[in-house]
Amino acid sequence: MTPDADTHLRLGVNIDHIATIRQARGTPYPDLEEAVRLVEAAGADIITLHLREDRRHIQDRDVEVLRERIRTGMNLEMAATPEMQGIALRVRPEACCIVPERREELTTEGGLHVLGGETRLRAFCAPLVEAGIEVSLFVEPEPAHLDAARRIGAPVVELHTGAYANAAPGAARDAELARIRSAAAHGRELGLVINAGHGLDYYNVGPVAAIPVLHELNIGHSIVARAIFSGITAAVRDMRAAMDAARA
Ligand code: PXP
Repeated sequence: MTPDADTHLRLGVNIDHIATIRQARGTPYPDLEEAVRLVEAAGADIITLHLREDRRHIQDRDVEVLRERIRTGMNLEMAATPEMQGIALRVRPEACCIVPERREELTTEGGLHVLGGETRLRAFCAPLVEAGIEVSLFVEPEPAHLDAARRIGAPVVELHTGAYANAAPGAARDAELARIRSAAAHGRELGLVINAGHGLDYYNVGPVAAIPVLHELNIGHSIVARAIFSGITAAVRDMRAAMDAARA
């Protein structure tokens, strides 16, 4: 992993919402092992899963089982809690993305409070980095947040693209895109590896994918939603194609 611009923009596929469907009825299906097999065969570069504190989708057992099944790499999203740190140190995923978490939220609604939480986050991340896990902080695309991430000692940041995805097309969305672009450039100057994600879909991914310094996009909801109609293989391939078209 280097922070250098790479023509291959990596695709991390977040499989949480396949587990959401399973948990809705408590059935053994849809089977996450089969999902991982298909998603990897369709071109994912890493499999992302968020073990939430309320276990609303991914379960502890999924993390254990998928650790053995994932061939590309596991990116474990988690809150900065002692419980999650213990799990990560035991399971040793290739990557960990530290996210803020509130039980009442529908999804991860904002970046980490890196500015007020530097000391705590530095202590939280150090053993993970020490264990060889690629630690990433999920942050708002703001220069000050990237400066803080650098001081905390995480080698990677994931820029929260939710405000971009939710902005109305036109001036508002263009402004959010510009914010992501300049945060990515700033992070790169700091020597950080820059990922991005949240709310990206087949229609809004292009301008983000075209930002040359980005290393990886993590995308879940839109891919799982499309899979309902076209199957997970086509849904992953279509996203891959949209990203490649933007980079070409
Ligand atoms: N990146 C992070 C850090 C996230 O928390 C999420 C949502 O779990 C995603 C990416 C993927 O977002 P979406 O499901 O909207 O594609």
